[in-house]
Amino acid sequence: MALKYTEKTIDHFTKPRNLGTLEGANAEATEGSPACGDMVNYTLKINPETLIIEDIKFRSYGCASNIATASIATEMVLGKHIDDVKKMGTTEAANELGGLPPVKMHCSVLAINGIKAAIREFEKKIGRIQDEKRVITEKSMLNMLKNVMHPKHGVNLVENGNILRIKIDGQDIYIVIGLEPDEEIFAANIHDEVMEHLEAMKCTHEIMVKIESKTGNFI
Ligand code: FES
Repeated sequence: MALKYTEKTIDHFTKPRNLGTLEGANAEATEGSPACGDMVNYTLKINPETLIIEDIKFRSYGCASNIATASIATEMVLGKHIDDVKKMGTTEAANELGGLPPVKMHCSVLAINGIKAAIREFEKKIGRIQDEKRVITEKSMLNMLKNVMHPKHGVNLVENGNILRIKIDGQDIYIVIGLEPDEEIFAANIHDEVMEHLEAMKCTHEIMVKIESKTGNFI
């Protein structure tokens, strides 16, 4: 079945704004989506005194929504202070396009998080933030899980009520995710995406992600 895209999404896909690589950029990041393997690269010029994003370009190695969300995200952050961009929610690019099919909501996560990654690199370079040592807590786990979209509902697993349990026991982390009985087809995909996000956190813990339904365990 064909996915339904808004006119604005189609417009940004067919006529992407700010496409390419910025000459003389002072911030850059390439981020991949664990959900599908697509990637996006951003190059930015950030004014080191005012911390305003003065220019930005992107290159996409992904689907139509990857292109459209990255394109609109560049427009949304242009002229903004980096602290305001850091506060942006991961669904804002999708919302600005008038919505995306649920299975494509992770493209918006990638588009926004890619820009935030470039800002993080910039801030490290100018000494505004330290190289963060990840402290794994229940809160940091929940924040990570907010980047994983339920492919059927297009809402992150935390807000969708899928996180049944998180337990950190010394070096061991247990995450229990609950799905509806008819959602088994999504189990492997969600499991892999959670694991890949955990790897990106450079988490050295032993991790067990269990996906269960009301009728028994999927994974
Ligand atoms: Fe994964 Fe679009 S970025 S399908």
